[in-house]
Amino acid sequence: MSVCGKGGSGKSALVTLLAKGARERGYRVLVVDSDESNSGLFRMLGFNRAPNPLMELVGGKRSVQQKMLAKFSSGESEHQMELLAQGEILVENIPRQYILEQDGIRLVSVGKILQSLEGCACPMGVVSREFLKKLRLKENEVAIVDMEAGVEHFGRGVETSVDSVLIVVEPSFESLALAEKVNSLAAGVGISNVWAVLNKITSEELAAKLKDKLRKRDIALIGAIHHDPQIFEACLEGSPLGGGNAVGEVGKILDLLLPRRELCA
Ligand SMILES: Nc1ncnc2c1ncn2[C@@H]1O[C@H](COP(=O)(O)OP(=O)(O)OP(=O)(O)O)[C@@H](O)[C@H]1O
Ligand SMILES: [Mg+2]
Repeated sequence: MSVCGKGGSGKSALVTLLAKGARERGYRVLVVDSDESNSGLFRMLGFNRAPNPLMELVGGKRSVQQKMLAKFSSGESEHQMELLAQGEILVENIPRQYILEQDGIRLVSVGKILQSLEGCACPMGVVSREFLKKLRLKENEVAIVDMEAGVEHFGRGVETSVDSVLIVVEPSFESLALAEKVNSLAAGVGISNVWAVLNKITSEELAAKLKDKLRKRDIALIGAIHHDPQIFEACLEGSPLGGGNAVGEVGKILDLLLPRRELCA
């Protein structure tokens, strides 16, 4: 499943709570950090560092850029480019330097823009798309993707092999407008499971108002997360997310998405 939405709406916070909740429900969880700009996800999850980026595994950004250019100039579609050596990727086959594990949650990161003038993030989009396309999950595994803000990832085809999309909606017109766009783009690539998750809700009146606005935009709603002072504090301090009312609220969303399993190692 992928989590997308407006910048700052709460994507990484939701990914973290979904990952912890899915683990508690018995799944082996792979979190894919596909956001090339913001690097805070590993802290929210409780890791003390980010994993080495998958971008390095495929030769670095420059190499991916060169391969993209070579394919374009030869007239071959960039879609057919063999980026990652294996035809299929199993979680256990990801080299150890590129995956971190803690408390049953694994984390990989596609790559971050680190320097000014280093060029656009298109190579990251290509690696995200190819990695997700080749990733094969077992029945007891779930992958949760933290997308970059906005909709560019749809343009790059990152969603092609995603089975469900959660759109985080905070109380703002911009966030609702983006949700509408994501809803139609996701439908356009054939994803039938697309839901909004309300976040930073401060009252039942506000929740009702937003539900109404989503209904008018024809966007299905799967759950709501209230403003949670523990999330706010953890994000301020750069410490792991946990506790708080949001955990139970995300649990209700997971009950609709994932059947409970016997906890696996
Ligand atoms: N349920 C919540 N309760 C209180 N504060 C929240 C909640 N969700 C998110 N926040 C606040 O919103 C900020 C942004 O959250 P988060 O980093 O998860 O958003 P994001 O969509 O991943 O942002 P970006 O687009 O920058 O990656 C956090 O720093 C936190 O202060
Ligand atoms: Mg984020």
